[in-house]
Amino acid sequence: MTEPARDRLAAWRADTPGTAQRIHLNNAGAALMPLPVVQAVTEHLNAEVALGGYEAADIAGPAVDAAYDAVAGLVGARRRNIAVVENATAAMAQALASFDLGPGDIVVTSNADYVSNQLMLMALRDRRGVAIARAADLPQGGVDAADVRRLLGDDRVKLVVMSWIPTNSGMVQDVAAVGEACLARGIPFILDGCQAIGQLSIDAPALGCDFLAATGRKFLRGPRGVGFLFVSDRALDAGWYPLSIDLRGATWTDPDRFELASDARRFENWEFATGLVLGLGAAARYALDAGAEALTRTAWLADRLRERLGGIPAVHRLDRGSTQSGIVTVDLRRDPYPILRALRATGINTSAFTRSAAVIDMDRKGVRAGLRLSPHYYNTLDEVDRAVDTLASLLAQ
Ligand SMILES: Cc1ncc(COP(=O)(O)O)c(C=O)c1O
Repeated sequence: MTEPARDRLAAWRADTPGTAQRIHLNNAGAALMPLPVVQAVTEHLNAEVALGGYEAADIAGPAVDAAYDAVAGLVGARRRNIAVVENATAAMAQALASFDLGPGDIVVTSNADYVSNQLMLMALRDRRGVAIARAADLPQGGVDAADVRRLLGDDRVKLVVMSWIPTNSGMVQDVAAVGEACLARGIPFILDGCQAIGQLSIDAPALGCDFLAATGRKFLRGPRGVGFLFVSDRALDAGWYPLSIDLRGATWTDPDRFELASDARRFENWEFATGLVLGLGAAARYALDAGAEALTRTAWLADRLRERLGGIPAVHRLDRGSTQSGIVTVDLRRDPYPILRALRATGINTSAFTRSAAVIDMDRKGVRAGLRLSPHYYNTLDEVDRAVDTLASLLAQ
């Protein structure tokens, strides 16, 4: 396959000042922001400096609406379906807090779900007596949708929670099949799309999920400290709202009554980082403009990286699943952190993880730590090759 979107690369890199400094292969951690994102945030901060925070927010009203429209457009939804929150974890927590789960109820999840999702479900188990059922994996890795369907046959299942792309493994789980199974049984589905946003094209309503949690800073290239929750029309119409509702999500009408906001704002908090919301909107517009070509390029660079890493004897690839993403993970059979630091010292950004990031997956693979390299469409082939060569020479020392 020829190099995808090569003609747009120079423009994308010119928009990304960080590419002049570093080889950034940590987009699954936090991507490099493009200039329109930086401008949106800093212009608003300057307005806050000059005018005051509340006064600047009033003026920014139409731009905030446009930011919601852009984020909604990115996931095939409408403005009413988007709640802006601090990060994907907060989005997951707000979605989970919509359900009054109790003893005997079962939540279905996957073995590959993000650590914080697993922790929240274990907290529900320990404090509310909720049972956790993890669907089996396919032989090649990734959740087995047929096993999800089997589990959903039990009337005690009240909720499904699933990560689309795990943090520590490059596979893409078949969440469309999971969504279909949930719709067929009328069981609510919370989808963790944190690593998918900016990497995959997303039509949230078509996925059959009731909620989709996402963050701004990863493949979406937004600022840190902001994320969002897609809330389906079905969830809104059913009147679901989080236990931790505040005055943005509802109006206190009488001493003992309140009225819910009609839209997904009922999942937000009143205090709101307007500059970050504008940055998130700019990132969504940038992603929409980069389009499918950019997504193809990210996947292509990751494949190239996997292939080249496979040629280094001291590197053992960890990614499984029939579909793989822009996240590439490897076992170096040694502590990856000194290697991460050495790579960083030469201007190459990667990340590392230990067993506690994904206990089930890591134990199955028999590894205690790994190195993660996550390219994005603005990376060059030369950068990928240089990173692999540098890693190979560090491992040979
Ligand atoms: C798959 C997955 N889900 C959820 C999260 C949590 O995202 P945040 O740190 O924005 O809360 C992460 C973060 O790495 C992730 O990789």
